Amino acid sequence: MTSTPAAPQPLSSRASGPLEGMVRVPGDKSISHRALMLGALATGVTRIKGLLEAEDVLNTAHSVTALGAPAVKTGDVWEVTGRGTGGLVEPAGDLDFGNSGTGTRLMMGVIAGHSFTVRMVGDASLSRRPMSRVLKPLKQMGLEVLDEGKETLPLRVRGTADLVPIDYELPVPSAQVKSAVLIAGLMAAGETTVIEREATRDHTERMLRYFGAEVRSEVRDGKTRITVKGDAELEGRDVTVPGDPSSAAFLLCAALIVPGSEVTVEGVLVNETRTGLYTTLREMGGDVAFLNEREEGGEPIADIRARFSKLRGVRVPAARAPSMIDEYPVLAAIAAFAEGETVMEGLAELKVKESDRLAATAAGLHANGVEARVEGDTLTVRGRGKVKGGGTVATHLDHRIAMAFLTMGLASEEPVTVDDTTMIATSFPAFRGLMEGLGARYA
Ligand code: S3P
Repeated sequence: MTSTPAAPQPLSSRASGPLEGMVRVPGDKSISHRALMLGALATGVTRIKGLLEAEDVLNTAHSVTALGAPAVKTGDVWEVTGRGTGGLVEPAGDLDFGNSGTGTRLMMGVIAGHSFTVRMVGDASLSRRPMSRVLKPLKQMGLEVLDEGKETLPLRVRGTADLVPIDYELPVPSAQVKSAVLIAGLMAAGETTVIEREATRDHTERMLRYFGAEVRSEVRDGKTRITVKGDAELEGRDVTVPGDPSSAAFLLCAALIVPGSEVTVEGVLVNETRTGLYTTLREMGGDVAFLNEREEGGEPIADIRARFSKLRGVRVPAARAPSMIDEYPVLAAIAAFAEGETVMEGLAELKVKESDRLAATAAGLHANGVEARVEGDTLTVRGRGKVKGGGTVATHLDHRIAMAFLTMGLASEEPVTVDDTTMIATSFPAFRGLMEGLGARYA
């Protein structure tokens, strides 16, 4: 079985506004995947409030259920009945991850510690994405790839009850790779260490500690070493998932470019490994404020307010990329409304997302009369204070490309059309309804 594509549904956005309101966005995607997987590996029941009910995460819920740890919704809480580390069972059929790289790669770490075979499949976008980055360390630990030499889905992998712990320095700044190795490390005999040169999102480390694993982080020679103790036992916990800052980004960026707007998104995750966009927006002159900062379930959250602002172009350093990697398409879209050039450096990882986001973003800007260029891993957008629009954007099965350009159209002179919106359901099914509630116009 492989995911079958739905018929494309194009959509246009047009000059709107002002956008006004106070809303919540659905739960964070990264934390939602992790809560389901760690819940499946824990003993007892994990109760998850605010789980993101989008296709990517629902595929992970189906997968843990198929592995013998049922994830079931009761009222507004998701309950996962865990099987304990190493206690999952062989699924009866393929595990389908749809569009989700995070679901696939983290689950490879889960499967690594179990001596059974799983065939993992996904949609056309996911089947093009590189899996070697996660297979390489997991193979060192003992995972077997039964389709030898193959590095993309569909893939058959077989884990082992005798995983070997490793020390692994990440060759690319990827929280997915880090997380897969740490999760496998839970089931290895000894200590597994992941070394990262650039800080990537740390939700796995935080949640592992919360579930009772021994995890320590130390900085040595400018690199962070994260060590997890093997043969671990996790205990089912209650998790509250904060609002997803990557989803909130579209609403808040829209408010910055639509004249007269003021939008507040309540209860958003503001973990500093995720807030690079908001730092950048402030540097551009954006009126963006974190209000009512607090902590919930081991993560910092805040209400984020954005008001229409006159933006100026800035240079976004490569070092910031991991903390805003999913936000470059929408940043590029609104940088077109700034005065001056916005130069975004260090974007190599954007090429291996749900689409080649570097190329797709530049093409979408060109289609709408915006000057932009890609030089190596750098994207430069020439802001002229306004955008002509009128173009159609190829989305390549990429939800963030679709939402970024629908955001741009809310302030452009002519409507902006995206060739498909069906895949927005992978991360943010409520996108259109929430935006319309604020005053956005689509057709
Ligand atoms: C994610 C990590 C990032 C990000 C993805 C979610 C995660 O990918 O782009 O949307 O939950 O760990 P990489 O780790 O590959 O950079």
